[in-house]
Order: sequence, then C-alpha cells, then structure tokens
Amino acid sequence: MARAAKPRVSGSEATAALPDADAAAALSARLLTWYDRERRDLPWRVAPGEAADPYRVWLSEVMLQQTTVAAVKPYYARFLARWPTVRDLARAEDAAVMTEWAGLGYYARARNLLTCARRVTDAHGGRFPETEESLLALPGVGAYTAAAIAAIAFGRRAVVVDGNVERVMARMFAVETPLPAAKPALRALADAMTPANRCGDYAQAVMDLGATLCTPRNPACGLCPWRGACEGQRTGLAERLPAKAAKAERPTRRGVAFWIRRRDGAVLLRQRPARGLLGGMMEVPGTDWAEGPMPDPGTAVADSAPLPFEDWRAVPGLVRHTFTHFHLEMTVVMAWVGANPRVRGVWVPLDSLGEHALPTVFRKVVRHALAKGVLEGGAGRAAPP
Ligand code: ADE
Repeated sequence: MARAAKPRVSGSEATAALPDADAAAALSARLLTWYDRERRDLPWRVAPGEAADPYRVWLSEVMLQQTTVAAVKPYYARFLARWPTVRDLARAEDAAVMTEWAGLGYYARARNLLTCARRVTDAHGGRFPETEESLLALPGVGAYTAAAIAAIAFGRRAVVVDGNVERVMARMFAVETPLPAAKPALRALADAMTPANRCGDYAQAVMDLGATLCTPRNPACGLCPWRGACEGQRTGLAERLPAKAAKAERPTRRGVAFWIRRRDGAVLLRQRPARGLLGGMMEVPGTDWAEGPMPDPGTAVADSAPLPFEDWRAVPGLVRHTFTHFHLEMTVVMAWVGANPRVRGVWVPLDSLGEHALPTVFRKVVRHALAKGVLEGGAGRAAPP
C-alpha cells in the first residue's frame, strides 16, 4: 500500500520529504474513487462529466470563504435566482447586492463581488478568464479562489489550498510544525499530491474529506480512503494536527448604539463609511467601539448621538457579537424624537427593516431593542411624545 513519506523537520520549518510521483498518483486515484462514491451533493456542483459554470463556481467559492456550507446554501440560491449570470449581477444596484448579502459577513466580499462581476462583463466580455494568473488579477480573487476556479470550472491543474487541505496534508504527512509556519510545507505537499487530471474533482474531494471524515475533532480514520497510508493515523497524532501557534486573546470593545424612533415609529439607520469594518453597510447609529469600560450612556448621548434628544433610556442588558479580531459588547439607548428631525440617515418603518442590508451585529441590536425595550424605568420617558 502506498505510504505517505514523513517530512523532515528542521528547526521550526518543516521541509517536507515529498511523496514520489507514483505514490502520490496512487493516493489521489484512491481519493477520487472515494469521491465518486461519497461526494456531497452541493448546489454548485455539476454531475460527473458535466462542465461547471464558472460564474457559479466563482460565486460559491467567494461565499464559502470563512463561511460554512450550510450558511451559504440559501444565499447562493437567492443570488442565482435573482442574478442568473455574471452580466445580470454586473447590472445590479450596489444596495440590492448588499441587502442580499446581509448576514453572510465579511462584507468586503460583497463589494468585491460586484466590482468583479462588472470587470468580467466589461473587460472580458462576460466570460471568466481561464488561467490562475488572470483570475488572480480580478477584484477579490485571491490565491485560493483563483486556484479553485481554474481547477473546478476549467479543469486546469492548480493547487487548491484552504484550511481543509492544510489539515488533511498535516495529518497525512504528520507535519508537526505549527501553523502558520507550516504553510509552505503544506502547500508543497498539496502540490505533490495534486494530479494532472480531474484536478477540480480532486480539490473538492480533499475538501469533502476534510469536511466529513478528516474533521477537526474526532476524525473518522477508520472510514478514510487514505487509511493505512496516513502518518497521522499511524502515529496517533491525527487529531492533534495541524498544531497551531497560540493565538493572541481577542480583546473586547464596547460601545453604545442609539435606537432612535421618530414620532411615526420609523427608526434611524445610516450608512457606514465605505472603508473599514462593515464598510458601506447600513447600521444602527452608535458611538465608536473601543477597548475599556462600557461608556456611560448619558455621556454617549451627549457626545455621540446623531441628533439631540432628551427622552431616552438605556435598554436593560447587552448586545454581544464576536468579530474575527475582537468581541463587542453594546449598550442600547432608545430614544424618541419629533416628527421631522434633520439628521443624516434614513428613517425606516419597522416592518421594512428586512429590506435593508443590516449586518448580523445590528440585527442583534434591533432584536434586543424590540424584545427588551419595554417602557418602564430608566432615564427619560422613552415613549412616544
Ligand atoms: N468549501 C469551499 N469550496 C468548496 C467546494 N467547492 N465544495 C465544498 N466545500 C467547499
């Protein structure tokens, strides 16, 4: 049986002893046989032998970055129903795309998606370019996505490396160097294992292996098509790999959100600056978010409210949300203002909040204000004047 070679490790750098070409070919063939039998039925996949639509491959791969398959499925279906081709998407209004994306997170992806669709339409006649290099030049298309599209949509040989692939390679070759230092070695191993043919199926087979059997916890080594050849399994290290360098603690930032209702009941939303976290998305207005103690709500009202108001109260409890680099805790201040206040932003009736591209963190603010924003107690009246 083909056996994975143990990489040599020198210092903190793994210098992988690559599997020889025959062993790699036998192992990739074994994985493809498993994939033909066990592959997940996913909406962006085509039947064996059918050509994939590059638009669908690109759309699914962009959505799947940092997001689970389960979370992506409904978004993917809605995008395709509304914009069936890259030309349709290129013609879409920015706000419509942001609204459909709301809740999927990492909003720079949505802005890049639209820029990319327009570039493909205007500069490439509505056809995605086929080489990894030309795909890499498209907005929002990084090394992973370029390789995935080249392999899956165009059948080109490309080395597709995501977190699943890194985990599978680290286990298969028992690479003990922690991530991220192990990345070059894991890429070299992924390259050595990638076959010349059926490269897109191979890439998706490794992803499926990582998602279904070679899972972060409790890997099902007994069912693995590479059992017997895997160094991680043989040495009993599999579940502990890949090793990860200790992460810096996520800090907690705090701030105050203003849930401001006009006399007719509409609530104030505004657009965030184009650049930065959640750039260009709609928000419930608020203070900056900073490390340190929770701002005093009265001071926040005096210093940072988007318009002056006197009738306000703090909603009991906190809204909590976690971003990649920090945790966030927010106090919500609710307030009522008059009939026609002058302020930058849009007044949105409560029953049409769903039409606006509100990221999850602000949906939490809405839910909190509606659930806990009862009228008794607190400073101010916080009831319609
Ligand atoms: N994760 C990212 N891309 C994927 C794909 N094409 N299939 C399954 N999982 C994925």
